[in-house]
Amino acid sequence: MINLETNYMGLTLKNPIIVGSCGLTGSLEKIEELETHGAGAVVLKSIFEEQILMEADSLRSAHPGHSEEADNITQYTQQHNLDEYLQLVSAAKKAVSIPVIASINCASSSHWISFASKIQDAGADGLELNIFIMPSDHNQKGADVEKIYFDIIDLVKKQVTIPIAVKMSFYFSGLANMIFNLSVRRIGAIVLFNRFYAPDIDLEKMAVVSSHVFSSASEIGLPLRWVGMLSPHVKCDLAASTGIQDGDGVIKCLLVGAKAVQVATTLYKNGPAHIGKMLDQIETWMKGRRFTSLQDFTGKLNQARIKNPILYERTQFMKYFSGKYPDSTSE
Ligand SMILES: Cc1cc2nc3c(=O)[nH]c(=O)nc-3n(C[C@H](O)[C@H](O)[C@H](O)COP(=O)(O)O)c2cc1C
Repeated sequence: MINLETNYMGLTLKNPIIVGSCGLTGSLEKIEELETHGAGAVVLKSIFEEQILMEADSLRSAHPGHSEEADNITQYTQQHNLDEYLQLVSAAKKAVSIPVIASINCASSSHWISFASKIQDAGADGLELNIFIMPSDHNQKGADVEKIYFDIIDLVKKQVTIPIAVKMSFYFSGLANMIFNLSVRRIGAIVLFNRFYAPDIDLEKMAVVSSHVFSSASEIGLPLRWVGMLSPHVKCDLAASTGIQDGDGVIKCLLVGAKAVQVATTLYKNGPAHIGKMLDQIETWMKGRRFTSLQDFTGKLNQARIKNPILYERTQFMKYFSGKYPDSTSE
């Protein structure tokens, strides 16, 4: 009997496949469908502080000038968005039995913090903070950017008792140190990594445009490297995100030490029924090796347990061109 259960950020998941925050987790109907097809948990579409403000602004532009009416519109729009989000949290909680993790996209430690407690009151099992501060200001020191992350976590922790996960980017000069320092702040999990809109250039139009919204399978190397290197050291769970397209991708992430994975692109491309296929692939692989639970192999190929830990840190292609690569089997 194969048991795919995992414990992630203090929640028990029947399997490690979490549907990451995206449009697929933005409505009750879709969330129910994801549960039907076997999702272990869902992270709801993020509520964006900027999105709320932008929507309010666009309504306000129809009523220019500072007036009581304009202020009321702003207040109404914000309240409407927030209420809608809270309704989604509580409706999802009633409709499905898998954990429902809410998500806030944030970049400051001010405006939205009190909203975290409303999410808890609405019944969310956990809260994922999708924190991103673009380190593009050449006058801003790395330590100042990092402090904003810590401040956000400390303030949110004062608001809620449900487990918190932090979804982060890899734009840190001291990335390992930052991940470790986040992990000791009594959070449930860190998600490595968020994936962002990136710029591209349209040569025909000679214009800056948006690059691919969806990831490709080759991008899995990024979470594999960092989960593999950090999972032996951090003080909270790690979830892998970016480039996980099939059951093999999930197994790889577990082998390097992830307690769960988050998927988005592959479900956009293959539909929610793909979750069932991924689960089948994991079970088939486990049966072939007589594994009965995820604990039998989770972390077996993390950096502390392989013969050649340097493989995780190798970045140059010198060996590739000159000869043999050592293999990476565990001890
Ligand atoms: C269309 C789309 C919408 C997304 N919206 C959000 C969001 O609201 N909040 C968030 O934290 N991540 C969001 N993401 C990022 C995904 O949750 C995920 O981290 C990223 O796509 C990498 O995983 P993947 O390779 O499985 O797609 C979105 C991704 C896509 C493709």
